[in-house]
Amino acid sequence: MSNSLQDEITKRRTFGIISHPDAGKTTLTEKLLLYGGGIREAGAVKSSKIDRTTTSDFMEIERQRGISVATSVMTFEYGGKIINILDTPGHKDFAEDTYRTLTAVDSVILVIDSVKGVEEQTEKLMQVCRMRAIPVIVFVNKMDREGKPPLDLMDELEEKLDIRVRPLSWPIGMGNRFKGVFNLVQQNLFLFRPGKSTIEDERILISGLEDLQLQSQIGEDSALRLTEDVQLIEGAYGEFNVEEYERAEVAPVFFGSALNNFGVRELLETFVTIAPSPLPRQTDTRLVDAEEEKFSGFIFKIHANLDPRHRDRIAFLRVCSGTFERNKMVYHVRLGKNIRYTNPYSFMAARKEVVDLAYPGDVVGLFDKGDLKIGDTLTDGDPMMYQGIPSFSPEVFKELTNLDPLKAKQLDKGIRQLTEEGLAQLFVKDLGRRKIVGTVGTLQFEVIQYRLQHEYGASCRFEALHFSRACWITSSDKTALDHFIRFREGNIAYDKDEEPVYFAENEWQLNYLIRETPSITFHMTNEYKLKKKEVSSKG
Ligand code: G4P
Repeated sequence: MSNSLQDEITKRRTFGIISHPDAGKTTLTEKLLLYGGGIREAGAVKSSKIDRTTTSDFMEIERQRGISVATSVMTFEYGGKIINILDTPGHKDFAEDTYRTLTAVDSVILVIDSVKGVEEQTEKLMQVCRMRAIPVIVFVNKMDREGKPPLDLMDELEEKLDIRVRPLSWPIGMGNRFKGVFNLVQQNLFLFRPGKSTIEDERILISGLEDLQLQSQIGEDSALRLTEDVQLIEGAYGEFNVEEYERAEVAPVFFGSALNNFGVRELLETFVTIAPSPLPRQTDTRLVDAEEEKFSGFIFKIHANLDPRHRDRIAFLRVCSGTFERNKMVYHVRLGKNIRYTNPYSFMAARKEVVDLAYPGDVVGLFDKGDLKIGDTLTDGDPMMYQGIPSFSPEVFKELTNLDPLKAKQLDKGIRQLTEEGLAQLFVKDLGRRKIVGTVGTLQFEVIQYRLQHEYGASCRFEALHFSRACWITSSDKTALDHFIRFREGNIAYDKDEEPVYFAENEWQLNYLIRETPSITFHMTNEYKLKKKEVSSKG
């Protein structure tokens, strides 16, 4: 392996910020970008007035709704490291988008609102992190507000997120009485000056909790309280072990206020020091190291072009090994053909620019005319495929009806392309005559309707169906499967790979069937397909 490839890999940190909506993900992202010199102005990540390539929102509809529907990538440099933030939509209806993005990161920063504690969406996202053993750093935000007592918050984190935590900083008071944080590792005091937003933290070096400066800075009472808290923490949590963090067994915790740019630099400094650089990744045949000379990567996100007049799409490629080079042929494993990309681009700071060379951990935007799907692998010729971009069982189902018979073709094409982007899942019934769209939230239907109209000129109507779960069904007994499908025709449809799917009306009905028909296996994600492929490639 060349030294320069190794150096580039060591420099990279590719991560996602996850949170429940309103916890402060956007604010924190902005502040992180400020440190990297990515943007000059607070508010730039959200504002529609700024050049649209700096924002997390790609589509007009997103700006209208003020929800970050799409995942985008923001790259900046800090402390000699190249940091790629993969943005994740906060809205729960787009959770599946976030799950997919988590397959392309090496670590995660989880933002918690100190007032609200652990919220529902956070629990779900952490489940995915745990499943994939993604290392997590927690940032407890909004310490300038009267929040839950920090020790209670630690317990709540451990209980609800099912992970051990280890505070690396500790707050001194909160709300109006918030004085700052004490860095438990470096034994520094960071003083909070209310109202001085976007001014850097004032850092005071003290020799330890006995240092008289501590009292003079934060007052006798606060110093006493801090000393007690720190003794308690050191006793209860033990040493922080970086390897345990890397194995996703323990999550270090920081406190601060993103809005006041407080505690953000401290978080960032620890992040660049301990967060992993690009990790090895599993394919259907072997584990691939980032350091391998040969290029490989996978597509984790597809996005419609910003300009609706152009049908091409942007596919987001995560480079996993070797280097991705502009104009060089790459092998598209699923299609078994070579493709050349002449205008790949990166997302450096505020600009979107053509990139000649990308390294493991980098995300490259590829213009695509319809060759790429989510989960596709590109390599230097090796026929392996990256694993782990599952489709989850949708929860809301509507039947799609065409309102303009002259535009049937456009509707057909549109819905196929939109579902390939991962916006929703498409199922067909009655030999393709009926189309059922399944999603995890209801907002997608509005997005689909809007985009079919604006990008494809097709108008449609959605009619609610009374299903609440879709499970892929398999069986080792083909006759039993055929019988099941015939007997329950009304509840059966087929997915994009023509695999049968059972639609359940409710949880009870599904559980009943699972119990009563042991010959059929019900799958909540389509990950079983990967396993099937694994078995056939082995045997
Ligand atoms: P999200 O991306 O996770 O959804 O959250 P976002 O950053 O948009 O923050 C949600 C709200 O919380 C915003 O207020 C933001 O200003 C506020 N906020 C973020 N960090 C802090 C903090 O450290 N302290 C306090 N007190 N508030 C914080 P908003 O009124 O909803 O929006 P805006 O008009 O301020 O943008």
